[in-house]
Amino acid sequence: MMSRERVLFVDHTGQIGGAELILLDVVQGRNESSAFLFERGPLAQALAERGLSVITSRWGLGLSTFRRDSSWMKALPLAGGLAAITAELARVARGHDVVYANSQKAFVLSAIANVVARKPLIWHLHDIISPVHFGAMQRRTQVFLANRVAAKVIVPSEAAAAAFIAAGGRRALVEIVPNGLSVEPVPVSRQELRQRLGLPSGPLVGVFSRLAQWKGQHVLVEALAQLPGVHGVIVGDALFGEQDYAAQLKRQVAELGLADRIHFLGHRRDVPLLMQAVDVMVHPSIDPEPFGRTLVEAMLAGVPVIATDAGAAPDILEHGRAGLLVPPGDARALAEALDAVLSEPAILEPQLVYASRRARTHYSLSRMLDSIGLLIRNVRAGAAV
Ligand code: UDP
Ligand code: GLC
Repeated sequence: MMSRERVLFVDHTGQIGGAELILLDVVQGRNESSAFLFERGPLAQALAERGLSVITSRWGLGLSTFRRDSSWMKALPLAGGLAAITAELARVARGHDVVYANSQKAFVLSAIANVVARKPLIWHLHDIISPVHFGAMQRRTQVFLANRVAAKVIVPSEAAAAAFIAAGGRRALVEIVPNGLSVEPVPVSRQELRQRLGLPSGPLVGVFSRLAQWKGQHVLVEALAQLPGVHGVIVGDALFGEQDYAAQLKRQVAELGLADRIHFLGHRRDVPLLMQAVDVMVHPSIDPEPFGRTLVEAMLAGVPVIATDAGAAPDILEHGRAGLLVPPGDARALAEALDAVLSEPAILEPQLVYASRRARTHYSLSRMLDSIGLLIRNVRAGAAV
């Protein structure tokens, strides 16, 4: 029998966003594998705790906050660093059977390194390739490299697959593996949880995403301005250089006079508990969401979901059967939906039962791990023949 694969997992960030939470599950039990990160941060420690040897490049600092609108002044000094990381990556990749890039920046550099390393390369693409998030040059480079160098491109949803193909990506490369989660609700009443967590006892809604313009927290704030008496918790922080948006959001809340009703809780590690404590989980992304782990987390927690009708959300929520959908960026529609759910919560009971069952059958962790495990094995076997 073939030995367990030695995989080199590559990520550009040291922070832990949704894509990195998936990575932390994928690496479980792979003690013979390693991780290569472009910067320091909590991800390195979390990977090491799972038994991987972690290499943090000393060249890549600052890459995770480098965006398509960053100036060339910032880009130029980076170029030398990128060449150095690529060389380092090629050297490390040689000692592995498969390279697994978990972000687009990781993929681009792994693909270039692969010219020398020549290892089968998997790209786990957690993004929707579109002009909203990627410049034309970035999109062309990613797709060009994927078509030529990637052995497989894993995406979490039909929406992410469609965007990759629309950008010119080869259909045959794509494997849709829905994200999987395993969270069990705790057997405590909502009110008791609120007391324990120090949350208000009246109508309470929550949003649980990192703070970023496209995640649309400002739309929820606008909607709450139209719903006197309703409190909101905004959980999450700016993880990837979106500090200006975070500051703007706090100004918006102050200017609308909502500081006593909207509570910023920052980044939390107890999201499932907090989620179980609210009356409604809102997912207000204004751009199409590639997947949205928080949707499934809410379904598992037995909490009603209101999400924007774009990206993977309509699929996950089965076009309204497992949660409510509103148009993206429409605060009035969101306020109306919130009002409806908060005033007659009992109506949603059957939907909650359905949603929780759907989350367990379609988005289970074991299913995701089996699919990705098989894919890694096949990619390695394919390279060996
Ligand atoms: N999350 C967290 N703490 C926070 C905010 C979010 O642990 O303060 C988690 C959240 O529970 C979810 C993940 O971060 O599991 C975000 O993943 P998602 O797919 O929803 O969005 P992403 O941020 O990856 O775009
Ligand atoms: C990305 C996407 C999010 C997805 C996560 C895991 O961060 O923004 O929608 O759930 O990756 O695939």
